[in-house]
Amino acid sequence: MTRGFPAGFRWGTATAAYQIEGSTTADGRGPSIWDTFTARSGLATGDPACDHYRRYREDVRLLSELGVPYYRFSVAWSRVMPDGRTVEPRGLAFYDRLVDTLLDHGITPMVTLYHWDLPEALQAEGGWPNRALADLFADYALTVHKVLGDRVRQWTTINEPFCAAFIGYGNGDHAPGIRNEGAALVAGHNLLLAHGKATQALRSEGGDQEVSIVLNFAPVLTDVDDASHHEAARKFDFLHNRFFLDPLLGRGYPPELLADLAHVGTLEPAIADGDLEIIAQPLDVLGVNYYAPARAVPLDDPETDSNCPLPGLRGMDVQPPRGELTSLGWEQRPECFTELLLWLHEHCGGLPLVIAENGAAFEDEVVEGRVHDEKRVRYFAEHLAAVHAAIERGADVRGYMAWSLLDNFEWAMGYTQRFGLVHVDFETQERVLKDSALFYADVVARNGL
Ligand code: FCB
Repeated sequence: MTRGFPAGFRWGTATAAYQIEGSTTADGRGPSIWDTFTARSGLATGDPACDHYRRYREDVRLLSELGVPYYRFSVAWSRVMPDGRTVEPRGLAFYDRLVDTLLDHGITPMVTLYHWDLPEALQAEGGWPNRALADLFADYALTVHKVLGDRVRQWTTINEPFCAAFIGYGNGDHAPGIRNEGAALVAGHNLLLAHGKATQALRSEGGDQEVSIVLNFAPVLTDVDDASHHEAARKFDFLHNRFFLDPLLGRGYPPELLADLAHVGTLEPAIADGDLEIIAQPLDVLGVNYYAPARAVPLDDPETDSNCPLPGLRGMDVQPPRGELTSLGWEQRPECFTELLLWLHEHCGGLPLVIAENGAAFEDEVVEGRVHDEKRVRYFAEHLAAVHAAIERGADVRGYMAWSLLDNFEWAMGYTQRFGLVHVDFETQERVLKDSALFYADVVARNGL
């Protein structure tokens, strides 16, 4: 029996600039925080990644062979404005060519303006804890829109501000590698402000573009049905799932969360008059990234910091994942995906949702030119069934972008985690379609499972 998706459902794949492009000094590109952070920490860098900057035509051909009609990619601010302010026409021209090539192949481009690769020059001015970046981001958004706006209709301002703020400035595991929880909170606010100002700038251009932001969600599981476990789950949930969402919906920051974090710092001085209105620009769709749930437990000592990305959260801890894990150690729980989408549908008052990322890393092997990645096929089958179930139960989900088109640079994990539908040999840059790519192409062709 086929489980069909709604007519016009948007099927796509997703990538991000720093994870695939390479060519980090080509055509006047300036360094981004990921170039400096990886070099300083002795980590693998985004060069050459998938060498996509030079091989984009080949990659678009792959997309077109797969017959997947939408493609979500990000623009690197440091290519378009190497110092964060001054336009580098050669950098813009790359995205201009990419969009044309996609359209020539009948693929609809979806642009994300910020997927974590801040120009290093702006980090030197303080990075996201510096409120001035919100206006600079809006200028950058407008600059890109002036060039691509005649052909691109779907615009995402920022990908996963949670990670940019809390992992970048809170626990320091991501670029720029700063550990300052108070600064992380302010970074989070300024990222939302940047989203709001960029949304206003994009809308000032007129036209019928669709503006979104992409948030990552982790539904919270608890083992024990008692007050202390519910409170532990509440703390994690508010930080992970509502810090960004509630202000976007015009509800401000959850007061309980600000109280949970009062010992870390206060957001009050960072919130200027009018900020919350700017942040709450109506969204056309919400981009949803889902990979795995989290497990919360209470901590006996309420003064001990938790083991979650913003360590300053107290009185709760995150437990190790269970059951079937991906190679990144992420728990596979498709049923949580359905619940998440139903919760979002309700919490966001029926706002249309697009899955902007979902996928899994496993160890893959090329054998006689094939990659039999059954685990990934199963992951996609189960998670697509979970999306389908949410739609059946009333969630307004308009599309699904598989993460990722290509094996790529997985941030602090370098090249050790393969998320691609397409296998990339990082020595030779050879691309091989995995079985999961063929499976996904088939789902897309049938518009169903
Ligand atoms: C998300 C990121 C994406 C990728 C996946 C695995 O948090 O947005 O770039 O790294 O995780």
